[in-house]
Amino acid sequence: MTDLKGLILSGGKGTRLRPITHTSAKQLVPVANKPVLFYGIEAMVQAGITEIGIIIAPETGDEIRESAGDGSRFGDAVGITYIPQAEPLGLAHAVLTAEPFLGDSPFVMYLGDNLLRDGIVTLTEAFKANAPEALILLTKVPDPEHYGVAELSDGRVVALAEKPAEPKTDLALVGVYMFNKSIFDAARAIKPSPRGELEITDAIQYLVDQGMNVEPHLVDGWWKDTGRLEDMLQANRLVLEDLETSVEGTLDNDSSVEGRVVIEPGAELVRSVVRGPAVIGAGTKLTDAYVGPYTAIDERVTVERAEIEYSIVLADSQISDLGARMEASLIGKHSRITRTDGMPRTFRLLVGDNCEISLV
Ligand code: G1P
Repeated sequence: MTDLKGLILSGGKGTRLRPITHTSAKQLVPVANKPVLFYGIEAMVQAGITEIGIIIAPETGDEIRESAGDGSRFGDAVGITYIPQAEPLGLAHAVLTAEPFLGDSPFVMYLGDNLLRDGIVTLTEAFKANAPEALILLTKVPDPEHYGVAELSDGRVVALAEKPAEPKTDLALVGVYMFNKSIFDAARAIKPSPRGELEITDAIQYLVDQGMNVEPHLVDGWWKDTGRLEDMLQANRLVLEDLETSVEGTLDNDSSVEGRVVIEPGAELVRSVVRGPAVIGAGTKLTDAYVGPYTAIDERVTVERAEIEYSIVLADSQISDLGARMEASLIGKHSRITRTDGMPRTFRLLVGDNCEISLV
């Protein structure tokens, strides 16, 4: 088999992560202080894939380009080609948009908001060894109606349905797929779904109907689609579980770190406690603060007289004097959360669309 190419889908509107995605791409929200998108790129590079195409949308394309660059930050041989998709017309439409880039090469398609703990090396090896028309990944989920769902018989794929109201199984399609060039004809043959998109699930069903070999693999380690807040927080927790301690920032004598903690260079702790797994970004300053397990605080954040647990705080935010512990929260860039003294005792809020705020 010739070398595999990589295709990462990084378009979409990220509606379920608003308001964060009003100003930024969902694939760039950091998990353990690294954009979700980078985990997919690194998984490809680890599997020996160096020619990577990234599908981008008009709204967020520039930001994605700026952050992933020409690919050199992921390895000397790695090259990234950006492929604009003018409208979000579906995953199979994205595949067709990438046809000039992919040519005749077999390829791995990776949805840019997906995270797979164990990477894709064993899967690309199986794909190269068996050379099926398609290889799909499946995992059992409690809510299959939110995903593509597969039906198997004797270990073979017999039917696939995209977000069926009444799923026949609990086997969800993971957002990582491997194809050879037959997928292009399949994507051309199908019609848009009720949500108006060319579904990759329907294109794979077309391959099955044509008697082609669609090889299913069950995912061993965890998998997360980070489309929603609770998934994002869980992904952050799962990635932090594997953290290796490294304390490069500064701690005063009244500060301490416990458990697996990363304190990036230039981060500063003053009379503060960080209990891992947690990561504190470069240039962030904690003063009289407590940061608890499963928290990722990005760069240049200040936390004063506040307690934070099981949360993600994006860069350049300021959090002070909360009065109660903050948890299960995602705080966008340049946000300010504080308490004012004096009368009248009022809330003063500048809140974007689709925000969620719970007060005590
Ligand atoms: C897409 C696919 C779906 C798959 C899911 C995995 O859905 O259409 O089949 O199970 O990704 O993340 P989306 O999340 O884009 O609606």
